[in-house]
Amino acid sequence: MLKKVAICFALLISLFVPVAAQLPSTPYSPSLLLGAAWYPEQWPESRWEADLSLMEAAHIHFVRINEFAWSSLEPREGDYELDWLDRAVRAAERHHIAVVIGTPTAAPPAWLTSKYPETLRTMADGRKDGHGNRAQFNWSNPKYRELAAKIAARLAERFGNDANVIGWQIDNEYGNESYDAQTQAQFQQWLRGKYKTLENLNARWTTAYWSETYQDWAQIPIPVGSGNPGLLLQWKEFVSDTWRSYQRNQIDAIRAHADPRQKITTNMMGWFDAFDHYTVAQDLDFASWDNYVGTGHLDPVRTGATHDLTRGFLRRNFWVMETQPGVVNWSPNNNMLDKGEVRAMAWNDIGHGADAVEFWQWRSALNGQEQYHGVLLGADGTPVPVYDEVKQIGAEFEKAGPALDGTSVDSQVAILQDYESRWAINWQRHNSAFDPVDALVSYYASLRALARSVDIVADTAPLGRYKLVVAPALNLLTPEAAKNLEAYVRSGGHLVLTQRSALKDEDNSLYPQRQPGPLAELLGARVEQWYSLDKPVPIDGEWGAGENRIWAEQLSFSAPETRTLMRYGKSNGWLDGQPAAVTRSVGQGSITYIGAGLDGKTMKAAAKWMMREAGLNPIMSDLPDDIDLAIRSGNGKRVFIFTNYGVSPRTITLPSPMEDVLTGGTVSSVTLPQYGVAILR
Ligand code: GLA
Ligand code: GLA
Repeated sequence: MLKKVAICFALLISLFVPVAAQLPSTPYSPSLLLGAAWYPEQWPESRWEADLSLMEAAHIHFVRINEFAWSSLEPREGDYELDWLDRAVRAAERHHIAVVIGTPTAAPPAWLTSKYPETLRTMADGRKDGHGNRAQFNWSNPKYRELAAKIAARLAERFGNDANVIGWQIDNEYGNESYDAQTQAQFQQWLRGKYKTLENLNARWTTAYWSETYQDWAQIPIPVGSGNPGLLLQWKEFVSDTWRSYQRNQIDAIRAHADPRQKITTNMMGWFDAFDHYTVAQDLDFASWDNYVGTGHLDPVRTGATHDLTRGFLRRNFWVMETQPGVVNWSPNNNMLDKGEVRAMAWNDIGHGADAVEFWQWRSALNGQEQYHGVLLGADGTPVPVYDEVKQIGAEFEKAGPALDGTSVDSQVAILQDYESRWAINWQRHNSAFDPVDALVSYYASLRALARSVDIVADTAPLGRYKLVVAPALNLLTPEAAKNLEAYVRSGGHLVLTQRSALKDEDNSLYPQRQPGPLAELLGARVEQWYSLDKPVPIDGEWGAGENRIWAEQLSFSAPETRTLMRYGKSNGWLDGQPAAVTRSVGQGSITYIGAGLDGKTMKAAAKWMMREAGLNPIMSDLPDDIDLAIRSGNGKRVFIFTNYGVSPRTITLPSPMEDVLTGGTVSSVTLPQYGVAILR
């Protein structure tokens, strides 16, 4: 027995180790890192010292450089000029600033695309992209990959063992695919590998529909806009696999020369869905994303969910590779965040499991496309007002670093996120107001307010550690995911399915069973009919009375122990009095289906019910609504990050006295002004 406990403990510890070990650390500051995007190639070298001194004074621990500098690194084919980059790395080192090197492949030089025009992508309208912007390359093109591997290898030969280089960013914000004939041929080959025979593909895509039947692989098009749902889905899977191999090409080139201490990532873009991020992330050492608000102000819940999404790519801590120093340049209204909000945002990042926050950018180039973007230094080379706030963040990261070192977000609640389901719904929303990300965030918001930490993971992720798993709009359920969910319930887990779940299979075909398809038997109930709503429908039951908008699913059940939780009120006649949510106990676990769209009030009540069913207690349930609480734990520590997002000051009374990590004292209550942050343990 004792031995068993020891083994379990060892397992637990080993689960925590990768959290710290997989992320880069600098030789100077081991845990929380502040960074800036620096473009030394845009300035005379005589300016670098002044920049780096100001960075050091602002507690900036690393710079990310080089990701658009190809024309400075290889001005003519095969003519490499890396000495300036070396001098930039050395100059940073003198200021105790580590470096993340970006591979420059998001911006190929003019000689390259003129000499090898096949490396330029073809846009969806058939026109070739051209030189002068960025991301104009063709991600599937063998020549481009050869040239990309070459420059990546050159960089890794030179910097792969450099003590001041802590990591690599591959390319920059993947997103543009290509619609040329060569890519189409690759897609057809890829389909051949997957479906083996045309008969199989034709059957699984029901191509008898509109005489789509293919008699030759070469007849299969790249879909543009609408298309057969099977074709649309497989194109997206191909796009994802092609980004993965595009990235792999560069990772292999770097790994051949780089010290394993240097970690490799790429900067993702939150909910962006041009490719399946679970596919692409699996070859990275750590995940990172670019966190921008754009117009308006920080929504800590939605941004929090985006962090949790990113943390879920590899199910460990991540970096915020870019964030706005108050303002961007690409929104309809590029308003400045309020004073204090940039700091609150940085701590929101950390609270959700980020171990680094990098500001884009240090100083704007005098010309080039992004002259109006937020910066830390003005065109005159001196600090702008937000510089001091960023400096404060850096000082606080250093203070709080030891307390947060080795910690992560430990959740007992998971929300499932699935690219295939989002694509499938977005191709056929049926009601334009049905946004799958909004559906996810509506569950997330209520659950997080109770549990204070929620994981967002793929439907094939290991679920054993969670007491409660909620799958919002899991429209496309592969057999593998169905097995995962069924096993979870049968081993005592509490699973909640919601609207539009399990309608489609892995070919984006309708299941020949009613929803939730392969899980209908386990649920002992099914969806009789779905309705896109033109007016709200009343709902009532276990979670109180409310109003259902946008979408409704009429449920029926066959298993005697399946229970109705909510019913529809009088509406279109079809729904009147029908079950809107049902649940069934399965051994120690349960499966629930919510066919109604819940409003704010019923959603809150439903979240409370789910927590109770799963045996979970809300954490600090008496906190004011304006206060966000994030918790990081591990290495025997538990750190609470409180932030006030309301306009009025709020006082938080603590359940027991805690140490204030930033001020050093012991406190039993804290009062926070708007955007005030307290880090307690
Ligand atoms: C038209 C077409 C049909 C079908 C219906 C759907 O009438 O002729 O093939 O697409 O629209 O409403
Ligand atoms: C993205 C890019 C950066 C920069 C910023 C501006 O995140 O990666 O190069 O263009 O947007 O917000």
